[in-house]
Amino acid sequence: MNLSIPSWHSSATVAVFAGLLLTHSAARADEDTAKTAQLARGKYLVTVAGCNDCHTPWKVGEAGPEPDMSRMLSGHPADFEITAPAKMPEGPWMVAAAPTNTAWSGPWGVSFTANLTPDQETGLGKWTENIFIQTIRTGRHMGRGRPILPPMPIPMYKNFTDEDLKAIFSYLQSIPAIKNAVPEPLQPIAAAN
Ligand code: HEC
Repeated sequence: MNLSIPSWHSSATVAVFAGLLLTHSAARADEDTAKTAQLARGKYLVTVAGCNDCHTPWKVGEAGPEPDMSRMLSGHPADFEITAPAKMPEGPWMVAAAPTNTAWSGPWGVSFTANLTPDQETGLGKWTENIFIQTIRTGRHMGRGRPILPPMPIPMYKNFTDEDLKAIFSYLQSIPAIKNAVPEPLQPIAAAN
C-alpha cells in the first residue's frame, strides 16, 4: 500500500495556507474593531445630540423628570392618547409639550416622536442605512414622503456627515427592540376645521 503524501500537500502549500488563514483572521479582527468603534461613536452621537430628550418618554424620577431608559428611544407611548392640539394660554407662547416630552403641539398641529428602536413593525427595523441618511438629509419621511415636522431638529441634523449618520444608524439598530406604534401627527386646529 502506498501511503505517500500527495504532492499538493507540500510544506510550502501548508505554509501559504496558514498565512492566508492568519491574514483572514487579522482582517476579521480589524472589521470587528471598526464595527465596535462605529457603535461607540453612534452611541456617543445619540447621547450628546439629545435624541433621548424627545424620543425616550420621560418619567418623574428622584431628581425630577428624566427619560425613562427602560423605554429607550421607543417614541411617543401608544397608550398615551392625545386627540387635539393644545389651547395656548394668553401671552407670547407657541409650543406645548406633553409630560413625556414625546408629543408636541404647535402651529404644525401635533407631532409624536418616532420609535427609533429596531422593532420590525413599529420601529426602524425595516429601514436601511440609506433610507435613514436620506430621511435626515431631505427632512422627509423615509427620504421621500411627507415633510418631517418640528421639533425634530432636521435643519441642524442634516449637517451630520455620512459617517456620523452611518454610526448613529448602526447604533440604533443595535439597541433593544421595543414594540410601540406611534400615532400619525394631528392637523392644526385651523386646517382641521
Ligand atoms: C427636540 C425633539 C427631538 C430631538 C432632539 C430629536 N427628535 Fe427625532 N423626531 C422628533 C419628532 C417630533 C419627530 C416626528 C416628526 C413627524 O412626525 O413629522 C421625530 C422623528 C424622527 C425620525 C422619523 C422620521 C420618519 O421619516 O419617520 C427619525 C429617524 C428621528 N426623528 C431621528 C432622530 C435622531 C437620530 C435624533 C438624535 C440625533 C433625534 N431624532 C432627535 C423630535 C426630536
